[in-house]
Amino acid sequence: MFHANGPTFWELAVQALSSTERGYDLLAPKFDYTPFRTPDAVLDRVGEHLKTLGVLGAGLDICCGTGAAMRMLRPLCRDRVIGIDVSAGMLAEAQQRTADAPGTAELQFVRGDALAMPFHAEFDIAVCFGAFGHILTKDEPKFVAEVARVLKPGGRFVFVTAHMPPLWSPGYWLARGFNGAMRVRNSLVSPPFIMYYLTFLLPEAQKLLEAHGFDVDVCDAGFEGPWSGLRLVTATRRCR
Ligand SMILES: C[S@@+](CC[C@H](N)C(=O)[O-])C[C@H]1O[C@@H](n2cnc3c(N)ncnc32)[C@H](O)[C@@H]1O
Repeated sequence: MFHANGPTFWELAVQALSSTERGYDLLAPKFDYTPFRTPDAVLDRVGEHLKTLGVLGAGLDICCGTGAAMRMLRPLCRDRVIGIDVSAGMLAEAQQRTADAPGTAELQFVRGDALAMPFHAEFDIAVCFGAFGHILTKDEPKFVAEVARVLKPGGRFVFVTAHMPPLWSPGYWLARGFNGAMRVRNSLVSPPFIMYYLTFLLPEAQKLLEAHGFDVDVCDAGFEGPWSGLRLVTATRRCR
């Protein structure tokens, strides 16, 4: 559908009718041939920004998928980079795809829920890409509290997001239409596939982070082309 090696429309439909975890297990071998993987153009730009933050010890990629951001983080981290994801299939792909990633930091792959991570105050940097749509809006405060809990004081949470697109833009209505279809799907079929667009946007995400003890910097990092609407957010956990 997106690429000769990517999933067919039928495969995507079957995946969307599975749970989030099972859907990603099925999609895993073909995931990197879909537009759902965060593009290197975006990750490279974020990597350049992370280089300005100085030496990083331990890094965490939340909802790491096939490890795209782990590849970017590894040369920037001295000690270890952990990827956490709910899907064992995606983690297996991540393990394969990051085996030749540049850098010397130890790579670890943890199966777990972003809303209940098995870590405590141990990361200098946490990132999350392409996955906010899997966190229900009602769970965003819990998610942000989890990120704060796993970072060291002074640790950073870095991600990209955008402002709400204007009401007259096709993107707005496409996203609203998709969300409506997912609500119908989830009211009829169990277990749910949690995936909604237009979540964790600015300025609400910034306010939520500030309320959970972060100092937040939002910058236009110069993303280009289809990603020009993205903003780079660096949220630093206050030391108290
Ligand atoms: C669209 S993929 C993004 C993968 C990768 N971060 C990237 O940017 O290419 C979303 C990932 O989030 C994972 N995921 C969804 N809900 C999750 C949760 N509650 N906890 C941990 N991982 C989750 C999925 O298994 C999937 O691998």
